[in-house]
Amino acid sequence: MSAVLKENAQPQADVVLSAKNIAKVFDVSAPWLNRVIERKGRSLLRAVDGVSFDIRRGETLALVGESGCGKSTVARLLVGLYDTSQGSITFEGQDIGVLKTAAGRKLRQKMQMIFQDPYASLNPRWRVLDIIAEPIREHKLLPESQIADRVAELLKHVGLNPADGVKYPHQFSGGQRQRLSIARALATKAEFLVCDEPTSALDVSVQAQVLNLMKDLQREDGLTYLFISHNLQVVHHVADRVGVMYLGKLVELAPKREIFDTPRHPYTRMLLDAIPDIKMTGKARTPVAGEVPNPLNPPSGCTFHPRCPHANERCKTEAPQSKFYGASIVACHAVEEGRI
Ligand SMILES: Nc1ncnc2c1ncn2[C@@H]1O[C@H](COP(=O)(O)OP(=O)(O)OP(=O)(O)O)[C@@H](O)[C@H]1O
Ligand SMILES: [Mg+2]
Repeated sequence: MSAVLKENAQPQADVVLSAKNIAKVFDVSAPWLNRVIERKGRSLLRAVDGVSFDIRRGETLALVGESGCGKSTVARLLVGLYDTSQGSITFEGQDIGVLKTAAGRKLRQKMQMIFQDPYASLNPRWRVLDIIAEPIREHKLLPESQIADRVAELLKHVGLNPADGVKYPHQFSGGQRQRLSIARALATKAEFLVCDEPTSALDVSVQAQVLNLMKDLQREDGLTYLFISHNLQVVHHVADRVGVMYLGKLVELAPKREIFDTPRHPYTRMLLDAIPDIKMTGKARTPVAGEVPNPLNPPSGCTFHPRCPHANERCKTEAPQSKFYGASIVACHAVEEGRI
């Protein structure tokens, strides 16, 4: 039985978000072409292609994979910034299609997104106080008289000085600005944060501080994270489970320990071989071999086969299904056939 079916058969009580067979197809034909040719002539890019996973309350699920594999597109689908082309997403059992309606207000408060570049998401002309108060005002969560106190409390909660509320975003450092966007996300008492490369633009030492803050907040407030990063060391630090994406597909989904100790998919192994040795075992690094194929013309069968050292004829023609191996879910013929 496929992994997807198995998961469906045993819904877990603590699942906060569930994505089932989701896809996002972008029409990337030149706009003028759309007028002169039939639909079949268009260039369709499957940025996310049949991805399924659950996120459990209080956990951090990390998504990793090379640039362009679809991580940000998944993030945007989860919070309703994009519509799905296929499949369904539910949050606490409710279809997120409701986000677009008035009835979705409560749901919108619960899910927030944090981006790589906090400067771009913080209005430079507003004082921090007003930036953080905005979602509180928008959702009418508190009377005006209590907002200043709540903002001060939020600033303290993310390790900033409440007196800094009168300042503007440019008066803060990169790390402090990311703390501001976390404070704003928490202003609505959000429970689920989708974090897209939240620390990638920061210096390494600042990165660690922000990651530690996120871990502390998770513990204190019971937050659930989808955490996107191309940096496996960061993922090793924060994740409970890890999903590995390749060309829009989830090729492996497993608890962090399984991913780092017994990676099964050849692509996961390739990514791990390319990073500095986290466990200091003195293993040499091997750069990731080959290039990601053009997503407009993906390879047949298993899309990883042209780069895979274990590919055989079946891999070239037949797309592998996701299957369980212990706690890991892997889509790979070589793993299934016990060849690796
Ligand atoms: N709005 C869009 N229109 C057309 N194509 C898009 C759009 N957004 C993303 N894509 C394409 O979809 C694929 C997945 O992109 P996505 O941004 O999700 O990847 P990513 O894993 O987040 O990459 P990165 O690590 O560089 O952030 C890429 O081929 C990208 O070019
Ligand atoms: Mg991205």
